[in-house]
Amino acid sequence: MKRFTKLADVADLAQLLDRAFECKRSPHAWRNLGAGRTLGMVFFNPSLRTRVSTHRAATLLGMDVVAMTVGSDSWALETRDGAIMDGSAAEHIREAAAVLGRYVDVLGVRSFARLHDRDEDYAETILERFVELSGVPVVSLESATRHPLQSLADVMTIEQFKRSSRPRVVLTWAPHPRALPQAVPNSFAEWTLAMGYELVIAHPPGYELDERFTRGATITHDQDAALDGADFVYAKNWSSYRDYGKILSHDQNWQITPEKMALTRDGFFMHCLPIRRNVIAADAVLDSPRSIVVEQAANRIPAAQAVLRTIVEAL
Ligand code: CP
Repeated sequence: MKRFTKLADVADLAQLLDRAFECKRSPHAWRNLGAGRTLGMVFFNPSLRTRVSTHRAATLLGMDVVAMTVGSDSWALETRDGAIMDGSAAEHIREAAAVLGRYVDVLGVRSFARLHDRDEDYAETILERFVELSGVPVVSLESATRHPLQSLADVMTIEQFKRSSRPRVVLTWAPHPRALPQAVPNSFAEWTLAMGYELVIAHPPGYELDERFTRGATITHDQDAALDGADFVYAKNWSSYRDYGKILSHDQNWQITPEKMALTRDGFFMHCLPIRRNVIAADAVLDSPRSIVVEQAANRIPAAQAVLRTIVEAL
């Protein structure tokens, strides 16, 4: 595998999932594979899970790791070509990406949507510059439009807990005080549809995702109807794709409560984390035995390990 930025970069999803479960069962089995190799990680945005789980996955493969937050650990980066660099950015992405490509064997990049210009975000400007300029395999640590490491861990978790071959999986919008990108729901839809699950997406009017990600899903504005018989409830906030980056609703009735979970088929509750308690979901949901958010986060390690293993084997 030469890059891991979207589902289409994965030649064989079933094989990658098998590898992820192998890594979960035997995390130390490939401890010499990455010896002498270095993973670099560049963060334009904060992270807890992605930073630590990917670091841990790399060290389980014997890799060295260097991680930096742009603008605090490193120089602030200019990303526009032709810019007159008389502002706060001391370095251009052209030199930074090329230099990092000489220092590391694999490069992870986290660069969220800025939510100002849909075309710019959906062109994945920053991620693609690192792919183009670094000359080494690039792993998305969440980009403007997708979060594939999260999605691989999500489908692992569904495979781990599912009680039928084609579970009913409900992705539901939930309220949030700040405008958030569409990367996680886009990616979740892309990967769960590829898995052949029954995917139902529930959201208030105006929150339709880009249909390139959701084609094949059932889409509804009726959250209760969506939750009826659900095996998995994946709550997530996102801002509007149509009115790009806008918050159109603060409706607290979309919060996941025990009453909402009672509509499901003894369903499991999932969220990528971090989660705002009693905004996205009630304490009683997160603290219930049906919440699998911590196991879901734990699966970020074998998911990242499977991806890095596949990339390192091809170096
Ligand atoms: N789910 C996830 O990517 O978490 P972090 O933002 O903490 O990395």
